[in-house]
Amino acid sequence: MTTTDFKLPIRPRRLRASASLRSMVSETHLAANDFIYPLFVTHGAGVRNPIESMPGIAQLSVDQAVLEAGEALTLGIPAVVLFGIPATKDPVGEENFAPAGIVQQVTRALKTEYPDLIVITDVCLCEYTSHGHCGLIEGEQILNDPTLEILQRVALSHAEAGADIVAPSGMMDGMVGAIRTALDEHDFTQVSILSYAVKYASAFYGPFRDAAEGAPKFGDRKSHQMNPANAREARREVELDLAEGADMVMVKPALPYLDIIRQTREQCAVPVAAYNVSGEYAMIKAAAANGWLNEQATVLELLTGIKRAGADLIITYHAKDAASWLTNRPDISN
Ligand code: PBG
Repeated sequence: MTTTDFKLPIRPRRLRASASLRSMVSETHLAANDFIYPLFVTHGAGVRNPIESMPGIAQLSVDQAVLEAGEALTLGIPAVVLFGIPATKDPVGEENFAPAGIVQQVTRALKTEYPDLIVITDVCLCEYTSHGHCGLIEGEQILNDPTLEILQRVALSHAEAGADIVAPSGMMDGMVGAIRTALDEHDFTQVSILSYAVKYASAFYGPFRDAAEGAPKFGDRKSHQMNPANAREARREVELDLAEGADMVMVKPALPYLDIIRQTREQCAVPVAAYNVSGEYAMIKAAAANGWLNEQATVLELLTGIKRAGADLIITYHAKDAASWLTNRPDISN
């Protein structure tokens, strides 16, 4: 038999033959517009404290955060999500809802400098409380309903500072409804809620806790964050948050939970965000620094995978790098 005897009318390789063909038939297109860039904001001026476990990411003072957000915007990234490192911590986390709090300051500065930048604020207690927990505590218990009142105050003060979107991340029951009610009562009907609806109790948050200085001083977060083994429960969390008025929902982390991203995309009609978290970033940076992985190719592949799984938006520390790679070589998104 010679090769001419083969009858192969269907040959998928035909459409992979050139870069332009591959690009034309690509099912998923990654763009800077998909990204949300996280910023860690700290008191002071001219401060850039690098975070050892997250190369390329630093705690920034307000002036530096404004520069960083400006660069992101220039690269086509439409939004930032803000995490604050307070001057002092206490059991309630007073700075969290103080008009002069760090997130309130940077929100005002960003909206003044770049009115079109979408400012998203993380709404949780853990960075602000002396015990590092996501709620008020009594003994070793996290108190759900009293925490909701604090979350309302935090969301309101972020809205007053000019936040476009508030993102409650503490996995307290009823947090979305409580925040929606408070915002509406104070005429912030236009402020949206991006709920961390499906947030797993994950080991991949390790580097973030260094960056945001919000590690729990005792215990863990398993009494409120989800068990990584559960997928049906994710549906329930999404259902509840939508019923309470979430405008968008998030799945977090991203890479070990691509099935949950897909499930959530199919479950609802609102935009779905995925959080490509600190540990996922640290793994890539460490491997790349050792020359074990090609950073650019790996990052674009994993971001494409998250989008293909169903994420409309991706919160990622790679945002600026990925946006600049896409700008310089748009073909590699395919
Ligand atoms: C809580 C919060 C956390 C992250 C985002 N918001 C940490 C936690 O739940 O312990 C993690 C993000 C990341 O790892 O990149 N405010």
